[in-house]
Amino acid sequence: MSIQILPLQQEDIPGVVECIQEGFADDPYFKWVYDGTRFNKERNSSSLTARCLWGINNALFYVAKEVDNNNQPQQGGRNGRILGVSCWLAPQPASQAQSWYSWSQLWLLSFRQLLTNIRFFGRGGLIVKRYWIWKEQQTAAQKEIWTDKERGYYFCNIVTVRPDAQGKGIGRKLFEVVTQRADREGVKCYLESSKSEPNVKIYEKMGFELVKVIDCDDGGDVCRLFCMVREPKVDKS
Ligand SMILES: CC(C)(COP(=O)(O)OP(=O)(O)OC[C@H]1O[C@@H](n2cnc3c(N)ncnc32)[C@H](O)[C@@H]1OP(=O)(O)O)[C@@H](O)C(=O)NCCC(=O)NCCS
Repeated sequence: MSIQILPLQQEDIPGVVECIQEGFADDPYFKWVYDGTRFNKERNSSSLTARCLWGINNALFYVAKEVDNNNQPQQGGRNGRILGVSCWLAPQPASQAQSWYSWSQLWLLSFRQLLTNIRFFGRGGLIVKRYWIWKEQQTAAQKEIWTDKERGYYFCNIVTVRPDAQGKGIGRKLFEVVTQRADREGVKCYLESSKSEPNVKIYEKMGFELVKVIDCDDGGDVCRLFCMVREPKVDKS
């Protein structure tokens, strides 16, 4: 049995949502930005589903699945267990204006999120003030770090592997599907980790370097984020 990395398809979404919720349950950013006593898992699933639907056409969204020796996904058709997920945003060169397609897709995502808010009577425990503190810090950090405006950056937005499947090379595969492309195109990659240990070391193994630490501070309650950049590797052969 081996692991295959496949582009996200609609039928994968419930497994992807479960995998993300499992992987981020103890994530420091998640614990900071949500009020645990008011967290609504069902609402969060609906919001993640909207993000996945958007991601199918607008992001580099991959799933890791177990495949048998004939390269067939386990448990029937494509519906094998999702062991890991990664979602990357493609580079946005400064010279490239946002397309109408991309604008309309973002609009559709916002509309779906609005419907989610209506259906669940709010944001399911999200501390909105903290969300905006993070957004502001993130925008400022990216403005400072993303110096290659000509080519832009592959931005690793989500990466997670199910706890029982970690440490077996799945995370590396979920990275390499994009980092190898970035290398061919000579483009840098970027990520923000909310865990120093062991994630910074793991990402260093993937070729990332820690470039900045940012503190999202809500009256002394701080969420620290580790910003990392990966330079493209040049093939010398
Ligand atoms: C971070 C994460 C995605 C890595 O995926 P993974 O499948 O466990 O990682 P891999 O097994 O592919 O390991 C990748 C490399 O890191 C190394 N590594 C793995 N765990 C490590 C650890 N605890 N300490 C140091 N290095 C480690 C591996 O040896 C490997 O290096 P190598 O290929 O040079 O031998 C995964 O652990 C995870 O989902 N963690 C919980 C959720 C999370 O933190 N998501 C990211 C939020 S920013």
